[in-house]
Amino acid sequence: MVGLVLKAVLLIFVGYAEAANILLVIPFSAMSHYIFLRPIGIELAQRGHNVTVITTYLEKKPPPNYHQVKVVEKKIWELIEGETPTIFDMVDLSAEEFHHRVVWPGGLAITELTLNSPEVKDFLKRDNTSFDLVICEQFVQEALYALSTKYNAPLAIVSTFGNCLRHNIMTRNPLQLATILAEYLKVYNPGSFWGRLRNLYFAVYEYFWWRYSYLEKQEDLVKKYLPELAGKIPSLYDLQKNASLMLINSHYSFDTPSALLPNIVEIGGMHVTQSNTRLPDDLQKLLDESKHGVVYMSLGSNIRSADLPEQKKRAFLNVFKQLKQTVLWKWEEDELEGKPDNLVTGKWLPQQQIIAHPNIKVFITHGGLIGMQEAIYNGVPIVGVPIFCDQYNNMLLAEEAGVGKVLEYNDINDESLNKTLNDVLNNDSYLKKARVLQQRWKDRPMSPLNTTIFWLEYIIRNKGADFMKNPARNMSWFAYCMLDVYGFIFAVSDSDYIMYYEINK
Ligand SMILES: *[C@@H]1O[C@H](CO)[C@@H](O)[C@H](O)[C@H]1NC(C)=O
Ligand SMILES: *[C@@H]1O[C@H](CO)[C@@H](O)[C@H](O)[C@H]1NC(C)=O
Repeated sequence: MVGLVLKAVLLIFVGYAEAANILLVIPFSAMSHYIFLRPIGIELAQRGHNVTVITTYLEKKPPPNYHQVKVVEKKIWELIEGETPTIFDMVDLSAEEFHHRVVWPGGLAITELTLNSPEVKDFLKRDNTSFDLVICEQFVQEALYALSTKYNAPLAIVSTFGNCLRHNIMTRNPLQLATILAEYLKVYNPGSFWGRLRNLYFAVYEYFWWRYSYLEKQEDLVKKYLPELAGKIPSLYDLQKNASLMLINSHYSFDTPSALLPNIVEIGGMHVTQSNTRLPDDLQKLLDESKHGVVYMSLGSNIRSADLPEQKKRAFLNVFKQLKQTVLWKWEEDELEGKPDNLVTGKWLPQQQIIAHPNIKVFITHGGLIGMQEAIYNGVPIVGVPIFCDQYNNMLLAEEAGVGKVLEYNDINDESLNKTLNDVLNNDSYLKKARVLQQRWKDRPMSPLNTTIFWLEYIIRNKGADFMKNPARNMSWFAYCMLDVYGFIFAVSDSDYIMYYEINK
């Protein structure tokens, strides 16, 4: 009895945080980004905060204190002017080309689309709103950070990726270029001399292009759509430098460990929870009754399997046909010619629940981080066909951990697919290592979602928590690197004495 009362009292105090007004800005129109970010708003609302979300995707049954401001829905591919590379051609683009053709133009277009959406414009016109915290996704839409200035609220940044080089430079978090690979760079052997040189080259390219070209264009968007902030707003660079918190989608149990400032917090896999929702009846039955297990394949929300070239599609069908397992494939069209009996397709499949089913033997993926984390959480081995972005690097980590294998897109044929898939299916070292990784992935003091909420509420409680920020962020780069001091020592050191020492030793 006393124990119960104590528990109740504890719950009241531990769970207590003053209800705050929170603005969550997550307009990027890729379903995978939304899947990762949506639990933040829902959970904050369920804990009593008044949450306003600027978003492309709407919740059908949101909690009562969860308000949605809809952004006009257009995919990044529709927004990029000029010639867009088809998705499978991106395999052959360098990270620099990918930035030029997709990331920079797409980021600007999505930011402008957001600020120009009628509902967003109406919302920004209201003068009776105030916020205690503004949370923005960090994904080349920096103009939206200006909302933290507009509402005079601390800024928290959330990334659907791991550590971010640009953010590290600004906040003076150590760069660690020798071990931390730029997220979009495809490097076969990151630790080698050429791997590190490539990483440095891309880092320099990305930083200068971003800071001196891209950020200026983002500032133009602020001037155009938020003219009331003229003169009030620090540069977008300074705004981001002084962000209170950055939440990153990585965890050292899988990702490369790195040094992080106290206000950069890992929340890897925040969107994955113990799935207790049943699958739709037909899928539940299919998975339950597949006694040899199931191979599940999906190339994510952006890449359509149905767009695969004929020869590669044939390779998948030929190899699937010979398996004793059932194959479940996210295939976006009604028809699939030559579909073998053990293959079931679905245009859209509830991935998190499928991967959580104990009969899933292998996940064939494009290596997107969100799906990879679902596989890690459930201890499922992976075959990855990386196409672009961070996908290659994610798969590199999976290979290193022994839980999966890369299948190069350009190498897909009957033989290579058969070999790779059967290796991961039948060699039980992949499963054993996946189980080990699963355990250490979950072995944390708090779940990633609770960690996220804790730090967001911490920032509110501590009014932006300035004390957590690195004092070095306000130093010039040469003072930060101690170059002035080393230069001074070099200049005054007695060269005669050194020569004397050399001669007489
Ligand atoms: C909650 O947020 C909505 C939408 O931004 C706003 O209209 C409302 O006034 C807020 N409620 C409180 C109690 O602050
Ligand atoms: C704030 O203003 C908007 C329209 O400008 C109105 O719809 C809303 O109810 C107002 N909210 C409060 C709390 O006054």
